[in-house]
Amino acid sequence: MDLMLSGKNILVTGAAKGVGRGIAFALANEGANVALHYQTSEAEAAETARLIEKAGVKVVVVKGDLASFEDVQNMRTRINRDLGTLDAIVNNAGYAQFKSFFQYLPGEWQREIDVCLNGVLHLAHAFVPDMIANNRGKFINIVGDSARTGDRNLIVSAAARSGAISFLKSLAQDVGKNDIQCNTVSLGLIDQGQNFNEATLAKIIKQYPLRRLGKVDDLTGCILFLLSSSSDWITGQVLSVNGGHSMVD
Ligand SMILES: NC(=O)c1ccc[n+]([C@@H]2O[C@H](COP(=O)([O-])OP(=O)(O)OC[C@H]3O[C@@H](n4cnc5c(N)ncnc54)[C@H](OP(=O)(O)O)[C@@H]3O)[C@@H](O)[C@H]2O)c1
Repeated sequence: MDLMLSGKNILVTGAAKGVGRGIAFALANEGANVALHYQTSEAEAAETARLIEKAGVKVVVVKGDLASFEDVQNMRTRINRDLGTLDAIVNNAGYAQFKSFFQYLPGEWQREIDVCLNGVLHLAHAFVPDMIANNRGKFINIVGDSARTGDRNLIVSAAARSGAISFLKSLAQDVGKNDIQCNTVSLGLIDQGQNFNEATLAKIIKQYPLRRLGKVDDLTGCILFLLSSSSDWITGQVLSVNGGHSMVD
């Protein structure tokens, strides 16, 4: 099936490595030009860009702290100059601390809120006006299932991302008339070589009806679908890609 992504300009945040890198590869393989964002992983971003360029697409590497609106605006200036206006954004970057609420010092939660909630607002404010002007666009935000179910050890990032889900639903209502779709993809645990011991891994896997962790390839299909014209009548939704970990109405 041709997803018609060839020649589209798509920003993937946090794309130097991990899940974001996998998404960037999948997009390039569909012929999309990639604005490849990183914050600190400069060498990995350069290597990912080098490999992606082999697919014959354009790649622009942009650095920025999503917690800073100024950085995000600078990213837009650079992308618009070197690639052109964006057709879509996949916001994959995230920052989470793994601990219970009373292990935080007051204010220690700010960065998670700045990246996982304000970062989404910054991206929307900087890039969506171009999509409105073009009368088309797609905005996908990636969260973890904790944003839907709560998680006592991801309590702040889950709350921030729950806010981002609500924000994207409201934005979807506002910009639907401009043919812009805003959706959230909610992930279960993706196997990236984390060092779980055997007992812990067995305990985690028991929580998954499909009895395994996810792979990056398990989620790229969903992202490609939500970026394609096949999803043009889907907006304001949260789609879990999670092996059945949570089943939320
Ligand atoms: N892996 C999982 O099992 C899982 C499960 C549920 C949800 N998720 C979510 O899915 C996404 C991808 O997962 P992952 O494990 O590959 O991600 P990750 O390594 O936790 O984070 C992805 C990238 O976010 C970027 N980032 C962090 N703070 C930033 C900031 N202030 N400004 C800009 N970029 C920032 C980092 O870029 P640099 O390295 O360049 O600094 C990092 O590489 C994340 O949002 C994650 O929370 C993952």
